[in-house]
Amino acid sequence: PETITVQELANRMAARQGEVIKALMKMGVMATVTQSIDADTAELVVEEFGHRVRRVSEADVELGIEGVEDTPDEMITRAPVVTVMGHVDHGKTSLLDALRTTDVAAGEAGGITQHIGAYQVTLASGAKITFLDTPGHEAFTAMRARGASMTDVVVLVVAADDGVMPQTIEAIKHAKAANVPMIVAINKIDKPGAKPERVCQELLQHEIVVESLGGDVQDIQVSALKRTGLDKLEEAILLQAEILELRANPNRPGEGSVIESRLDRGRGSVASVLVQKGTLRKGDIVVAGAEWGRVRALVDDHGAQVDAAGPSMPVEILGLSGVPAAGAPFVVVENENRAREISEFRQRKLKEHQVAGQVAARGTLDQMLA
Ligand code: GTP
Ligand code: MG
Repeated sequence: PETITVQELANRMAARQGEVIKALMKMGVMATVTQSIDADTAELVVEEFGHRVRRVSEADVELGIEGVEDTPDEMITRAPVVTVMGHVDHGKTSLLDALRTTDVAAGEAGGITQHIGAYQVTLASGAKITFLDTPGHEAFTAMRARGASMTDVVVLVVAADDGVMPQTIEAIKHAKAANVPMIVAINKIDKPGAKPERVCQELLQHEIVVESLGGDVQDIQVSALKRTGLDKLEEAILLQAEILELRANPNRPGEGSVIESRLDRGRGSVASVLVQKGTLRKGDIVVAGAEWGRVRALVDDHGAQVDAAGPSMPVEILGLSGVPAAGAPFVVVENENRAREISEFRQRKLKEHQVAGQVAARGTLDQMLA
């Protein structure tokens, strides 16, 4: 998470450290000058001091780049990024397959989603929607949290014959924590035991009031199996996207997040990324987490090589030095030296982190033995 020390914050605002500490105290935060506070708290303080907040990415700060601000006329509408979440086996992957009209679930080991997949669907109208799939199994909490944080909209899939279950509730929490609007897809309505009204009632207990009960969360009944309600679901997503006014400037260096990465026998490091800003191009020099490399090839969600990927596009990067961590940011930089510098800096930070962890563990062990 982004943090800043009280000292640094005071410096950047050219304010007295004591004044910053006082402002924090008023907000109920007790901190010393060397202590770090999170970005949200810092933002409140900055506003308290009458300044305007402009956040730049961590990579920019490390690079010493001033956050490039996009002017409104550079911005164009971008596709919504939609994360599909819900309890295990409620039909997330099936729903995506139906939306994509190609079958990925069939190719998956055991039919259980192990990784977060990313696809972009182009509708008959030409509108595009980017979907991120997430696994419903309880073991994959971190993946769901990441999915929710990269997304514009969460589609919560609830099986009409099973109702609200533990990972349904968890998904609701992730969406709320990430402050992302939700659309409820009530799936498997083809099943004899389907009770869509019961799903709506159960959601009420988690403060989700769907439209069919007079609330403002869109609820759509679908069947991934029978392919019903899919157009309504897409309409609901596009309506939500319109409200969000999603825009991005494609004419700047590419930036985004790593969705997942792996070492492929033939292709080496393969990183699935979501481009969130600018355009990523073949030949670009990229830093992704603590790894870097020149983009040897870009592969789209249909397995086709592409020369470039713009905002909201999921794409695979070939050519990185290693396997970057899922959730890590990636950014295009101007040259290899820069890339190496940042990558080494991050490798070092990672090591320090690990050593600190070991020291802390040793401390507790010593205490236990004392
Ligand atoms: P995880 O990724 O493991 O969390 O599961 P998932 O939510 O992606 O579920 P998946 O799409 O793998 O579907 C689970 C089972 O439900 C499969 O056997 C599907 O065929 C079945 N299924 C999915 N959608 C429907 C539907 O609309 N109707 C019926 N009858 N079955 C469905
Ligand atoms: Mg799945």
